[in-house]
Parts: sequence; C-alpha cells; structure tokens
Amino acid sequence: MTDLHPDIERILISEEDIQKRVTELAVEIDRDYRNEDLVVLIGILKGAFIFTADLSRKMSVPHTVDFMSISSYGDQAVFDGAVRLIMDLRKPIIDQHVIVVEDIVDTGHTMNYLYQTLKGRNPASLKTCTLFKKERNNLDVPLDYVGFDLPDVWVVGYGLDYADTHRTLPYIAELKKEVYT
Ligand code: PRP
Repeated sequence: MTDLHPDIERILISEEDIQKRVTELAVEIDRDYRNEDLVVLIGILKGAFIFTADLSRKMSVPHTVDFMSISSYGDQAVFDGAVRLIMDLRKPIIDQHVIVVEDIVDTGHTMNYLYQTLKGRNPASLKTCTLFKKERNNLDVPLDYVGFDLPDVWVVGYGLDYADTHRTLPYIAELKKEVYT
C-alpha cells in the first residue's frame, strides 16, 4: 500500500467502492429515464467535476452535460451563509429532463438554492443526485439519487477539497483534524 499524504487521517471509501457505486447510480438513472429522448446532467463545479464525468461515461441514456459553478465556502473553510452563483449554464433548460449532480450535500444550503433556482426555469422534470451526503443537513428538497452517507468529519478526494487541495485523490479520505482546526 502506498503511503498516505501527511494531511490524511485514513481512507473512508476506496476507489473501487466509489466506482462500483457510481456504476449502480448510472444503471438506476438509465432505468428511470429509459423512455426519455434526452437528459441534461448539470454538474456543480468545482466539486462535482470528477463525479459528473464518471457518471456520464457510465450512463447509456442519451444525455448532455452542462455545468454551473457555485460557491458557499471561502478558502478559510468558514461558511458565511451565502451561496453564490459564479457561472451559469450555457443553455436554457425549459422543457428538459434535468438531473443536478453534486459531489456532496453537507448543510444542504447549496442544493436548496440550486433546486429552487432551476425549478424556476421550468424544466420538464428536475431530480437531484449526490454521491455523498452528511447527516447534519437542513434540506427542504428531495434527494433522488444518493451514493454514500458520510460521518461529520472533513473529507477530501474524488473532487472534494480542503482549500483547493486533494481533489484528485481517487478515494474519499478523512482529513487530520489538526489540518483544519
Ligand atoms: C461544496 C460541495 C457542494 C457544497 C455542499 O462546494 O461541492 O457544492 O459544498 O455544501 P452545503 O450542502 O453545505 O451547501 P464548495 O462551496 O466547497 O465549492 P467547490 O465545489 O468549488 O469546492
């Protein structure tokens, strides 16, 4: 086994388990949308860029991929209560079957904001997909596809970061507490 980065406490979910679960989610989505002509996946940057790419490549139903960029945390890892739209979609989603793809739902603020914003654009349907979910969230929208529940520790890897680092780890790992406290 290769040495872990000194910031990492332990691996929580292996690369193999992540890939297996992403495949299962793709199969579920393929089944649910088998009668539709086209699905629009909306990946939420930055965190969901890896999950969106992997999910898209494992899906068989016809789909396009678009991105939005949202930020709720600064580099100091302090939540200031605001969800900001940094970059919008390239195309309108009116009358389209849309799935929002997130890497993680933590407090739920981002997904609540996304759901309300996208619903207001009158898609034919709107579903939510997140690979990881923490328990302490304050969600008032449904989560239709969920990969894994995570404990309330700082996690990095597979798109998730600490101050923009560790996103490219192929697994999900717990960050050492002394790194972020
Ligand atoms: C992370 C993650 C989600 C959001 C979830 O994004 O990618 O979008 O936080 O948190 P919430 O449920 O508490 O709203 P972040 O703002 O860290 O930006 P990033 O994706 O660019 O890393």
